[in-house]
Amino acid sequence: MAKKHTRRGVSVAVVLLILVALAGIAAGVWLVLQKSGSSANNDRHYDLTMQVGEQKTLEADFAHEFTCMSSDVTVISVDEATNLLTAKKAGEATLVAKDSVSGEKAFFFVTVTDNPANPGAVVTDATTTEVTTTTEETTTTTTTAAPGVVSGISLSYYSANVKVGEVHPYALVTMTPEDAKNKNEIWETDNDKVATVDKAGRIKGIGAGKCKIRVTAEGNPYIFAEIDVTVVDPNAPATTPAPETTTASAATTTTTAATTTVAGLPQQSEPNGTVTGVNGAPSIEVKNGLTYVNGILIANKTYALPSTYNPGVDPEAQAAFNEMQAAAAKEGRSLAICSGFRSYSTQQALYQKYVNRDGKAAADRYSARAGHSEHQTGLAFDINKASSSFTSTPEAKWLAENCWKYGFILRYPEGKENITGYMYESWHVRYLGKEIAKAVYESGLTLEEYLGITSRYAD
Ligand code: DAL
Ligand code: ZN
Repeated sequence: MAKKHTRRGVSVAVVLLILVALAGIAAGVWLVLQKSGSSANNDRHYDLTMQVGEQKTLEADFAHEFTCMSSDVTVISVDEATNLLTAKKAGEATLVAKDSVSGEKAFFFVTVTDNPANPGAVVTDATTTEVTTTTEETTTTTTTAAPGVVSGISLSYYSANVKVGEVHPYALVTMTPEDAKNKNEIWETDNDKVATVDKAGRIKGIGAGKCKIRVTAEGNPYIFAEIDVTVVDPNAPATTPAPETTTASAATTTTTAATTTVAGLPQQSEPNGTVTGVNGAPSIEVKNGLTYVNGILIANKTYALPSTYNPGVDPEAQAAFNEMQAAAAKEGRSLAICSGFRSYSTQQALYQKYVNRDGKAAADRYSARAGHSEHQTGLAFDINKASSSFTSTPEAKWLAENCWKYGFILRYPEGKENITGYMYESWHVRYLGKEIAKAVYESGLTLEEYLGITSRYAD
């Protein structure tokens, strides 16, 4: 099924199927499904209301990668790499998210309402494609390609684990622009003793090891994307730890690694000597692969989260945001979350997209690698717009001055990239609770300095 999306002709057929399904909705099927709460199979149904201009990242708790399609992209569009939804004009549409392995579906019946501040407004592509190449959340690939030539490519996943002899589910390939003339795919492996790939993109495990599978746009050989493939031989004697997977055993591997990190206290063996926070040497504890420094859950370049950690938005952080939003509104400032919880796989796709666009070194300055994003903790929010264009708004000023009162800190302040690991983000706040947020704010330090920890990738 996922593969069907990769071929233009069949993809259109899928859209048509959805339109047929929508005709069913008009005939009343939708209401029946809603009332019953579930259909004959295990498909699920949700209602979703958004305002014109609002963006949300779609999260679905499927066991595998999932794809999502909108029945009407003029009402609600979906970025296939990140599952970022954009409400474009008032109306109704259906989103169908589908687990690429089990085929399980979730239907989101979306109602987009007018934005009261700007009734009748329609989000055009020109509005949604504003690009600041050094910040995250921008969705357009800047390109010099001629009209009709492929200028961007993305995949529904960028890493795959497969057993020897096993075939992996197809990746969904998206090439842009939509109207590019030649969207044929060229698939190659860099090591056919580890995994092969056929012309249609079907990956097969051959021998234990790692390799890269590349898909290149035939219409523009400069445009390609890669999948990191790990092949495991289940019959081989277990002499080395199994590679990390998204299964339960991965959590165990991650926990072990994290415990090793703590035992080695890497931040105390830096060439520059011991790093000490305002409260002295940090107390570092690892529980189920999560690192707590002085009781605070940390995700930064030094400390990763397990790929299986998938908590969703933290309810206490959400309540604190709601309180902050109400207080800001009283002062005429409008705050909204434009990116909240992001799963490991969402972050993986997002980071890879930026690497494809700007290169790894540039992407590492503003986007976290999978497992290293605070968004995966459910405790971090991007406010209004994850772009430097937010910095000059009154809302950004209000946030910087007041967020601590509600338990948040601005996590990546200006001029602290060498400490936090990231460029200035006026929009990214982290929930710590009121007491700690106040203490960090009053210290004038970054969280890393406050706790006495580093933020640095090992490689
Ligand atoms: N932009 C921040 C660093 C993230 O990707 O989590
Ligand atoms: Zn953020």
